[in-house]
Amino acid sequence: MQFTYYGHATFCIETAGKKLLFDPFFTGNPLAKDIDIQTIEADYILVSHGHGDHVADLVAIAKNTGALIIAMHEITQWALQQGCTNVHPLNLGGAKQFDFGKVKMAPALHSSVLPDGTYGGNPAGFVITTEEGNFYYAGDTALSMEMQLIPKYAAIDFAILPIGDNFTMGYEDACTAAAMVATKKVIGVHYDTFGYIEIDHNKAMDHFAANNIALILPPLHSNFTIH
Ligand code: NI
Ligand code: MN
Repeated sequence: MQFTYYGHATFCIETAGKKLLFDPFFTGNPLAKDIDIQTIEADYILVSHGHGDHVADLVAIAKNTGALIIAMHEITQWALQQGCTNVHPLNLGGAKQFDFGKVKMAPALHSSVLPDGTYGGNPAGFVITTEEGNFYYAGDTALSMEMQLIPKYAAIDFAILPIGDNFTMGYEDACTAAAMVATKKVIGVHYDTFGYIEIDHNKAMDHFAANNIALILPPLHSNFTIH
């Protein structure tokens, strides 16, 4: 699998020749201000919840690419109202097979409203199983006991977890979350974008190392292989 990091919680995972774009936030993202969204490719766009820092460019990129939007039912309904046409609604606990693999929607402890005030349903994360490996993207969430269920659904090769604190888990809770989902590899996201969520990288790296879990803090706009 190829992982491309755009900053904040915006990233692309390529598997089986398909590009899965997560939580597209380019416009207004200080970490992605040099990226032209016209250049962003996607076959699928997965959205964890309705906050602006996760859906800012959802409609524009969905229209540009024709990508299938996979998200909570209420978010897909909102996307249809914005003129998107290609959506797949899910709700918590539900799974669906797509051509790249299976997506199961997992609960997240957070809030979810679209930028125009429309109710976004419950916030979510995703457990994704593919022929190239399995991963969990938590979305914006607190540490939750629900995460202990995730290893029952898939052996998680790596987890993409928020580590910025303030609005989500900080790195210590994210390290506990990694243990709950039974993975040894974490890609940290949702940090350093704004003052509220700036973190000390060395402290985060040391904490994970002390717990024998690898923490990857991807350089901005980097592209690397992960499995
Ligand atoms: Ni949020
Ligand atoms: Mn957020």
